[in-house]
Amino acid sequence: MIIDNANANSLDSQLEDGATFLLARSSLNSGTEYLTMPFIAPFVPCSVEIADAALNFAKVDAWDVVGDLGCGDGRVLVQALTGLLRPPQRAVGIELDPRLVEHLRQNVVTRFEKGKLAIIESDMFKVDLEELGASVLVLYLLPDGLEKLKPQLTAWFKNGAESSLRRRIVTIAFSIPGWNCDRAVQVSRQWLFYYDVREIRE
Ligand SMILES: C[S@@+](CC[C@H](N)C(=O)[O-])C[C@H]1O[C@@H](n2cnc3c(N)ncnc32)[C@H](O)[C@@H]1O
Repeated sequence: MIIDNANANSLDSQLEDGATFLLARSSLNSGTEYLTMPFIAPFVPCSVEIADAALNFAKVDAWDVVGDLGCGDGRVLVQALTGLLRPPQRAVGIELDPRLVEHLRQNVVTRFEKGKLAIIESDMFKVDLEELGASVLVLYLLPDGLEKLKPQLTAWFKNGAESSLRRRIVTIAFSIPGWNCDRAVQVSRQWLFYYDVREIRE
């Protein structure tokens, strides 16, 4: 099911699998470090099917660089590099949890040739998104986190406006509050929302 020029917010009321699960996990984790700042979402990985659908929805191609803010165990990035017909030139993830970063560096980054997959251990709010060099961002985060990211995402879209490579964002499960997505699609009862630079948002 595809909706063009959908009002993303109206779709948020239709919580499906991934959204419900992520919300449930964030409540279950109450009292742990995952609900204390600067964490804005618990580690709940998307399925490989959803990762693949999100990357295809963004029309990732060989000239792209894919970024995942809050990359978890790196499955979106791995799927980008190994699962697509035309994989991106490289992929980069930001992750705050040092245990996940350790796992990524020991077991995931090592599977790729140098420079293909980079992991930045950081709070995503402290990173200048321009430094990632990404043309596509995939975000699986809670609405509060997406709301807080809006100034960085707006700046990223604005900086890319003159670029020959169109910048795109696909969010999984939750739309960016207050922004109209360009398209939305439902895959296995999971919503994906697509945004690009055609409309520069304030
Ligand atoms: C819902 S999981 C998504 C994981 C992965 N992107 C996926 O789709 O499978 C959210 C991730 O964001 C990370 N995270 C939460 N707050 C963060 C922050 N402020 N900076 C960087 N990562 C953060 C969590 O540790 C977790 O791994």
